[in-house]
Amino acid sequence: MSENLVASGYDAVYAALPGSPTFHRIWSTLACGADYPAGFGHISFLTLGELRELTERLELCGGGLLVDLACGAGGPGLWVASMTKSRLIGIDLSGAGLLQARRRATVMHTPATFVRATLSAVALQRGQADAAMSVDAIQYVPDKQAAVAEVARVLRSGARLVFTAFELEPDHVSDLPVLGDDPVSDYRPLLEGSGFVVESYEETPRWQERVVATYEAVLAAADILGQELGAEAFAALAFEMMLTLERDPYRRRVLAVARRV
Ligand SMILES: C[S@@+](CC[C@H](N)C(=O)[O-])C[C@H]1O[C@@H](n2cnc3c(N)ncnc32)[C@H](O)[C@@H]1O
Repeated sequence: MSENLVASGYDAVYAALPGSPTFHRIWSTLACGADYPAGFGHISFLTLGELRELTERLELCGGGLLVDLACGAGGPGLWVASMTKSRLIGIDLSGAGLLQARRRATVMHTPATFVRATLSAVALQRGQADAAMSVDAIQYVPDKQAAVAEVARVLRSGARLVFTAFELEPDHVSDLPVLGDDPVSDYRPLLEGSGFVVESYEETPRWQERVVATYEAVLAAADILGQELGAEAFAALAFEMMLTLERDPYRRRVLAVARRV
């Protein structure tokens, strides 16, 4: 149920975003920073510094297989794949996001496949992947232990999982859709219980200030964004942003590096 809600909301948003210069201006100025590489945009809070760190920590050798978990429209995964000369498989629930990711990969001539699946059942063989990444998405997954176990299954021994994600405040989300399903406040026990060694786990700088400034700016631009995005997509965005500002569901945003034993 919550996965259908997530998929339909994101489908509306991904289909509408290419037509909204206002959304892109707000995101570039407040969420990711003006230096974030054009053409590899996202709807998360990944900065250029984090993108570089994530790429380095994946320790991918050229030609390896990189999996981007909850890849959305594919921007960060395509950047990492092009920098490391890797093959990319992106997984996401949103068909509209995957369509855009495929278009981007074609334009960029980057070898990539995008598959519609939930993170708890990734359609890959055991030990097939050389690295996995995920950007600001794991907090939405209804069964996080199952998702982490699934990444562990598809990674070869020694491979790294590098991700950014929001830790949840269980008391603030207990009655909320999606975020209230499985509110994990620290991902390290899940990782360690699934066959990973956690190599680093750090709060990312200024995450709260950036989330609040970005969401306030989007909500303040409701009139123009409603026109550019359409009512359904704007409502999906506004719902999540208002809940985030009112309920303060996030404990921290972290960047984690874990190695598959
Ligand atoms: C904030 S967006 C981030 C997307 C992308 N990583 C980026 O940086 O733009 C969260 C993404 O998680 C996906 N998602 C949420 N729950 C999921 C699940 N259980 N399985 C797969 N994808 C999921 C959504 O469809 C959405 O594309």
